[in-house]
Amino acid sequence: MAKFDIAVIVGSLRRESFNRKLAHALVKLGPADFSFKQLEIGDLPLYNQDDDASNAEVVKRFKADITAAKGVLFFTPEYNRSIPGVLKNAIDHASRPYGQSVWKGKPAGVLGASVGPMGTALAQQHLRNVLAYLDMPTLGQPEAFLHFKEGLVDEAGNIGPASKEFLQGWMNQYVAWVKRHVS
Ligand SMILES: Cc1cc2nc3c(=O)[nH]c(=O)nc-3n(C[C@H](O)[C@H](O)[C@H](O)COP(=O)(O)O)c2cc1C
Repeated sequence: MAKFDIAVIVGSLRRESFNRKLAHALVKLGPADFSFKQLEIGDLPLYNQDDDASNAEVVKRFKADITAAKGVLFFTPEYNRSIPGVLKNAIDHASRPYGQSVWKGKPAGVLGASVGPMGTALAQQHLRNVLAYLDMPTLGQPEAFLHFKEGLVDEAGNIGPASKEFLQGWMNQYVAWVKRHVS
């Protein structure tokens, strides 16, 4: 049975999202004592501070899933050199009310794939800034700036051979990072 439940958040709502394909393939590289649950963020309302005292059920569910997780994996597309609004919206929801953020202390991993060769580097840097403020210890190395091209994820939904060693190494570092930060 898994001892480490990890929440997976994909910052794209697109049906054929490359980042979602990457997420599904990457979690297969996790060890037996880790389980991964992708959280829906597309059904969260736009964050409105007026609703802090009476969150919608979907918001409560999202926060409960983060609370229950031992760590969080973020897969972000890059939109206009930053993170997509839907991802920021989800992060904001679970950071409030003030003083009751559920992100604090959760060991995070950040990855992203884009059609451009810079592989979401700028979006990831913006995301790291937010996660630092939220007091989430975030794996620094290796960085995972992925250019989504033929073969990164194969037809069976697995990481392709050219990236397998690198991404298995990434997963191994993240697993060690979670174990170091979870008491
Ligand atoms: C609004 C918008 C802005 C974008 N801005 C960038 C960008 O700044 N850098 C980049 O590499 N790709 C950019 N792209 C292209 C994305 O990398 C591409 O749409 C990618 O497939 C998004 O990830 P997804 O497949 O997981 O949805 C942008 C796409 C959209 C729709």
